Amino acid sequence: MCGIVGYIGKADAASVLISGLKRLEYRGYDSAGLAVIDGDDIVVSKTPGKVAALRDRTRAEWSADRLSRPGIGIAHTRWATHGPPTEANAHPHLDQSGDIALVHNGIIENYRPLRARLEAKGHVFRSDTDTEVLAHLIGDCCKGDLFQAVCDALHQVEGTFGIAVMSAREPGKVITARRGSPILIGVGDGETLIASDASAILSHTQRVIYLDDNDIAVVTADSVDVRDLHNVPVTREIAELEFDGSAAEKGGFEHFMLKEIHEQPECLANATRGRLDHDLGSSVLAGMGTSPRELAELERVVMVGCGTSLHAALVGEYAFEDIADIHAEVHQAAEFRYRNPILGSRDFVVAISQSGETADTLAAVREARQKGAFVMSLCNVVGSTIARETGRGVYLHAGPEISVASTKAFTCQVAVLLMMALKLGRGRRYSREDGGRLAREIARIPELAAEVVRQSEHIAAIAAGYLKDEHAFFIGRGPMYPVALEGALKLKEISYIHAEGYHAAELKHGPIALLTQGTPVIAVACDIPGKDKTLGNVEECRARGARILGIITEGDDEAAEYMDESITVPRAHPLVATIPAVVALQLFAYHVARLRGCEIDQPRNLAKSVTVE
Ligand code: M6R
Repeated sequence: MCGIVGYIGKADAASVLISGLKRLEYRGYDSAGLAVIDGDDIVVSKTPGKVAALRDRTRAEWSADRLSRPGIGIAHTRWATHGPPTEANAHPHLDQSGDIALVHNGIIENYRPLRARLEAKGHVFRSDTDTEVLAHLIGDCCKGDLFQAVCDALHQVEGTFGIAVMSAREPGKVITARRGSPILIGVGDGETLIASDASAILSHTQRVIYLDDNDIAVVTADSVDVRDLHNVPVTREIAELEFDGSAAEKGGFEHFMLKEIHEQPECLANATRGRLDHDLGSSVLAGMGTSPRELAELERVVMVGCGTSLHAALVGEYAFEDIADIHAEVHQAAEFRYRNPILGSRDFVVAISQSGETADTLAAVREARQKGAFVMSLCNVVGSTIARETGRGVYLHAGPEISVASTKAFTCQVAVLLMMALKLGRGRRYSREDGGRLAREIARIPELAAEVVRQSEHIAAIAAGYLKDEHAFFIGRGPMYPVALEGALKLKEISYIHAEGYHAAELKHGPIALLTQGTPVIAVACDIPGKDKTLGNVEECRARGARILGIITEGDDEAAEYMDESITVPRAHPLVATIPAVVALQLFAYHVARLRGCEIDQPRNLAKSVTVE
């Protein structure tokens, strides 16, 4: 979603800001802008479209002197919420005087009454945004002290924010604050950076301070002073980040998504390495932070997430019930806090989020903690808000996922959920022998994924037959049902083909009415319990003229006969088999989208991390 970069130091601010924005492009956005302090003035450059357009515009319109001036600036990529992606709506926004500039992630929910109040005082607004209202409010509160003005303004707003503010009247500092939208401060050598995402600043420094909600910091080139909104100092430690520069490069692949699909064998090896105990037939997940007694006493696992992470949770639901013999539920995180869930101290709430910043999942975490449940997270991004707020959790170790369409995070989420189920199961009724067998199957996961990745060209040839379709149905049963949901999500988000995932049995309760001659049905019919029933549902589709692409187990000639064409995946434990099956569907979606000429890594309207409700 929106991205923030701020800079104060010896380098020329404009180029640091633009290269920071470039690193945030993967998050999804539709306009970009920056502001620097030049002499006594704030100068702003903004444009709809890409950061490259902003760079070209700034180069064309700003003098070489201004472009190369060391100093201070703030910049932003905007994912439109209030008003379309126009130049006027792009950030930074100025206050009424034009002396204060602001970039903002999040949503100011009470911006309408605030705007009306300010308009009554004579303020004139140039955009549709809630952010411009906050800029004017800060200006209205400012009586010569920017820090105090920001505090006073933030006390009046409802909603979420991650902000960076600067004033031409106080040119040596940037004020930054957060509530519900991440901000981190990079502490460099004679320079300080502000960002909503570490990737924007990692090439400058790996030393970062994460702000917590309601923190506000005064940042200069060589100091960071963090306080709360009542001006009371708070201590925030400096954390060291790992920097893998190659993650930000495509490494010879045409798209980040393809690179990330190909990385899965390695990521899955990282996610499982050192976490399987073959002697005990169990797993070692210290981050869960629960004693064997606590695990044995748990009554329920409740998983929350959105999108792809929700689909991983649905696989986890099968795993926990089957392996750990514990009641398991999955909730769409956006609904969780509004339905007033019944939770207690014997419930284990698992928040699943690649980014660790999804607003709804974070809110679900807070609700669960409020109600006294054990809460843990399963995140990919180290130091993300959800990881930090839950305190206990298991990292995926998938490495940075740049493509908006999630791939390697999903397979690592499933692998970690299987290991969690194994650990819980061994603390309950799962025998050492059964545990040992499952641990060996989990250890095969990297190679199972690799076998499917090696079929990329074959899958591309199959995908070429689906370029003209505008609708597709994905069906599956048991743990292959969430795989079907994920396959449909991948196809729709990157190829713009309308795709729906259904339980194979559900089709005939309505959606089958949409099948006509040649409608594609992608049947995830791997050889696991329930396959025969899925094949029966495939027959029902064929009888209506549907064209069937099967995802089937290698050597399963019987299943192959039901399909018009097939992609085969290696035989594995029914839950483990979800991983090679989904890799096949990721490649199918990728190749369909590529052959249709779609913009794969940043699909229209989508953001990598959804930090608003
Ligand atoms: O970062 P999270 O896992 O919390 O993100 C959740 C969803 O926004 C995300 O999975 C989204 O559905 C992806 N675009 C799927 O490819």
